Amino acid sequence: MIAGQIGVAREELFETLEDGREVSRWTLRNASGAGLTVMDLGATILTLEVPDRDGRLADVVTGFHRAADYMRDTAYHGAVIGRFANRIAGGRFALGGRDYVLATNNPPNTLHGGQSGFDKRLWQAEAIQTSAGEGVRFTLVSPAGDEGFPGEVHVSTTYAWTADNHLIIDYAATSDAPSPFNVTQHSYWNLAGAGSGSVMDHHLAIAAETYLPVDGTMIPTGEIAPVAGTPFDFRTAKPVGRDIEAADEQLARGGGYDHTFVLGGEGLREVAVLADPQSGRRMIVSTDLPGLQLYTGNFLDPAASGKQGRPYPPRSAIALETQFFPDSPNQPQFPPAVIAPDRPFASRTIYAFESEAV
Ligand code: BGC
Repeated sequence: MIAGQIGVAREELFETLEDGREVSRWTLRNASGAGLTVMDLGATILTLEVPDRDGRLADVVTGFHRAADYMRDTAYHGAVIGRFANRIAGGRFALGGRDYVLATNNPPNTLHGGQSGFDKRLWQAEAIQTSAGEGVRFTLVSPAGDEGFPGEVHVSTTYAWTADNHLIIDYAATSDAPSPFNVTQHSYWNLAGAGSGSVMDHHLAIAAETYLPVDGTMIPTGEIAPVAGTPFDFRTAKPVGRDIEAADEQLARGGGYDHTFVLGGEGLREVAVLADPQSGRRMIVSTDLPGLQLYTGNFLDPAASGKQGRPYPPRSAIALETQFFPDSPNQPQFPPAVIAPDRPFASRTIYAFESEAV
């Protein structure tokens, strides 16, 4: 379907997949020219262009030219992840006295919802006017038994783009039965422009006193460890790569950073700042969720060709995923990541862009 101009949210046909499904692309742009494109396949952010300190726009997210490339992608570029973002140990959990078995698509664990998560689904899309700005709302019905999860879940992801370059992401979901539920946005960022090289010289600050160490299969051990005195201390901004090669068992397990930070405070609050000193671009992350996964793109496929026609080698982009804690269905000491008929889900994450003077 090709629709005309609706405010600044514009829809067009992006591609017809091999199975005949039509993928649509939406553009959200503000008066300054900054903005993003998103598609209904995976509710994915395709491009996001923001200015540097001289007003020059660059696309700061990784991605591909074709929707079909996203169907093959195993790195989740730009997509919304569900029904359960991150890992569930052994692909198993118990809920309400019943045992559930999931696909172990990241052996021996389940990763990012299983074989075919929310990132591979065609969502319904509509343009909406939010109080913050023009937006696109994507909705999806995840049937009972979807990838082994119980309950029929109705989920929406709304992207709104404001006049001052804030991307406001609102998630909402309801379910007719209890189910683990954890959604996140899986864009990879390079504020110098995606495909332009390493992000190790970006500066990063994370408002977390503690983080979750993992076992050899990347499942949290259950320990909530202080960041103080470790390479995981981002309480004061430092270059992402400053300590990444330190002799540290946790960094060795992840091949770099691939860990959940336990965010201080509650409610919607600023939790991280990523800055590129060269371009002056800066991204401030706010969320009401308890965790932030820092993934330094350690396993990005150097052979994959990105939309700039350039590869995205490991550590050339970084994901900052707001979410509940990995494996919380099996770790009752973690904040409960459960949706239920009397427990609908609503959450907000904001990626706000600024450029700083020299
Ligand atoms: C996870 C990584 C995983 C990657 C897949 C990230 O969210 O933390 O462990 O390799 O997704 O692209």
